[in-house]
Amino acid sequence: MFGQLLLGVAGNRGVRSLVTGSSLSQPVVARFVAGEDTDAATAAVRDLAKDGIAVTLDRLGEDITEQAQADETVAGYREVLDRLAGEGLAQGNEVSIKLSAFGQGLGPDGPRRAVERAHGLVQHAHGLGVDVTVDMEDHTRVEDTLVAVAELRSEFPRTGCVLQAMLRRTEGDARDLARAGSRVRLVKGAYNEPPEVAYPAKADVDKAYVRCLRILLDGGAYPMIATHDLRIVKLAEELLDGRDAEFQMLYGIRVPEQQRLAKNHTMRVYVPYGTDWYGYFSRRLAERPANLAFFARSLVAG
Ligand code: FDA
Repeated sequence: MFGQLLLGVAGNRGVRSLVTGSSLSQPVVARFVAGEDTDAATAAVRDLAKDGIAVTLDRLGEDITEQAQADETVAGYREVLDRLAGEGLAQGNEVSIKLSAFGQGLGPDGPRRAVERAHGLVQHAHGLGVDVTVDMEDHTRVEDTLVAVAELRSEFPRTGCVLQAMLRRTEGDARDLARAGSRVRLVKGAYNEPPEVAYPAKADVDKAYVRCLRILLDGGAYPMIATHDLRIVKLAEELLDGRDAEFQMLYGIRVPEQQRLAKNHTMRVYVPYGTDWYGYFSRRLAERPANLAFFARSLVAG
């Protein structure tokens, strides 16, 4: 409830310019965002590799209004991929993309152009041995995103898909995607969704998460278990029973647990970087009231 309220307030333009315009935001943002450019992203990849942790890099930039911004995002991804390859860091790492950042929402032609851009990038990443996962955004984009992933998978079967346990439709989607070789990142869901499409109670989301995980495992998919919920992590470790899967967490959240998991499993951290951090940052605040209190205290103290 609080999180939904905060996501609503965060959508206000005045609030956005207040937060992004304040230099006091920067230290708190730095907890969740690796930095602004390719150098910072590469440094984060190098640092995490020291603990045996793989990454999926997200070049921030979801709220675009022009096609040129989408082209810029793709160029940024190509740059970071080439940089990783040049430094011998590509192997085992991944990038995450948002179709909205690729122009999905820009006019009737948007979905098609976003898929074309994604296709070009997946092809480039594939040539460097890097996988791509397509993030899932709010429920209005789920259908288009699933269709886009299916299209990309017809040529690049390792393209990852994200499912959000909070959505009522997701168990069905999990069944559709539960087959060998299918890389599926399972998350709870970070968007402010109406009760018609999503479970309003957290306990129901948690139960749905476990049901979806069982479906993916039983169908032979490769689940990417993306959660900081330690009860689910523990249960997942038991359910795996030798089956192939990986754990994922967000940059800056539950770091000791990330290091613990990396000792026994593939552990991947989602590393966002770039200047357009507001949307990502406000979702992290909404997930946990303590983050908002931390942010508010730093503004007052500054
Ligand atoms: P839950 O919210 O129940 O949190 C469990 C515990 O983890 C909390 O009690 C707290 O201790 C800690 N925690 C959780 N969030 C925190 C935060 N922001 N700051 C500090 N501590 C926190 N969503 C989506 O809709 N589409 C997507 O594509 C993705 N992609 C994605 C990739 C990866 C690798 C991860 C880990 C997550 C996503 N998400 C996402 C976000 C996801 O939907 C969800 O909002 C967050 O992971 C928080 O949910 P938890 O599963 O961690 O559980």
